[in-house]
Amino acid sequence: MWWEDAAVYQIYPRSFQDSDGDGIGDLRGIAHRLDYLVWLGVDAFWLSPIYPSPLADFGYDVSDHTAIDPVFGTMEDFDALLAEAHAKGLRVLLDLVPSHTSIEHSWFREHPDRYIWSPVDGPPNNWRSVFGGSAWSRDDVSGGWYLHTFYAEQPDLNWRNPEVVAAMQDVVRFWLGRGVDGFRVDALTGIVKDAELRDDPPAAGDFPLPLPREFGELEHVYSSNRPEAVEAVGALREAAGDALLVGEVFLGTAEYPRWLEHLDLVFAFELLFAPWSAEALRAAIEPAEALKRVAWVLGNHDFDRLATRVGEENVRAAADLLLTLPGTAFIYQGDEIGLPDGPGHDPPYDRAGRDRFRHPMQWDASPTGGFTTGEPWLVPIDPEERNVEAQRADPDSLLNHYRRLIHPE
Ligand code: GLC
Repeated sequence: MWWEDAAVYQIYPRSFQDSDGDGIGDLRGIAHRLDYLVWLGVDAFWLSPIYPSPLADFGYDVSDHTAIDPVFGTMEDFDALLAEAHAKGLRVLLDLVPSHTSIEHSWFREHPDRYIWSPVDGPPNNWRSVFGGSAWSRDDVSGGWYLHTFYAEQPDLNWRNPEVVAAMQDVVRFWLGRGVDGFRVDALTGIVKDAELRDDPPAAGDFPLPLPREFGELEHVYSSNRPEAVEAVGALREAAGDALLVGEVFLGTAEYPRWLEHLDLVFAFELLFAPWSAEALRAAIEPAEALKRVAWVLGNHDFDRLATRVGEENVRAAADLLLTLPGTAFIYQGDEIGLPDGPGHDPPYDRAGRDRFRHPMQWDASPTGGFTTGEPWLVPIDPEERNVEAQRADPDSLLNHYRRLIHPE
């Protein structure tokens, strides 16, 4: 398969390239930068969500799965980007968000049975939201209590309702029909919940990945990681045919085999969080490597930047590791120029504190880093000291190091 040894580049569309001066990245901007991706040598790119969204979770609260948010452009812009990418030999992955929608999605009012509601007047169990507090909130309109694994603005879909399964399969077919090459599948772990809504037990303390404190106090065996999820993923696979499906399954490596039944790849999160020591890295890599079908990853839009985590002195070794491990590797935009965490925004856009990992790409040394001609939605961090243009011109730069690793000449 084309992806078996691929380097895939994650684009965070709001922060990659603005083309119309509104300070927010867009599809035409991405199209202008395709030659950069070709030069870098990646095989594909993944677009974080480009669908209409009220932005409670910056695109991961989707209010229409088969449309383009006007801030990013139009469906024509999308088709043009896809065609241009393909013409340049780049494959395109979209972000599929099957486990929840925005509370402003028309389904929430028109098809409330597509969501998960408490059978009692209040939370029926102790489940917690990833972002803190109860996973249940009261809907002021109907008075019922609905489940949300993430923000209250992101009600969870009920995958036990065949209508949900069919609707999400239609979403997959819609985008495949336009020509996309696959999907990164968001927040799969909790796609199906316990039918009896049983309480999650207290955490045993051995979960291998970092979790927000309050959320981590419970072992999420009923609210998430259900055996029934295999069937749900199977339904996505049925619609996807042999398009690439990379799952965001936020669990330790030992849990992956069942998820890989219908997914091509799952992100190797233990590697992303491994402390920077040979021993810890080996412990994270060996079991994941044995599965043969993990996507190696050292950064994304949810966690501290690679350069901040491993330190400037280790960014080259991190690139060596990421891009020489056997199999598929994902690179988060900006990591190839060593972008660190930024200052974020005050007041925060993301209530969970992830603005710092989402600052604009720095293309040149100008004050906005060539990202926009307007006011950038998040300030560039340090375009004068760090930018693509300067690093391209310097054979010893981190950027050229990435390039050589991606396609050795
Ligand atoms: C995934 C996304 C994250 C989002 C969450 C809920 O973890 O990467 O950004 O907040 O899902 O959709």
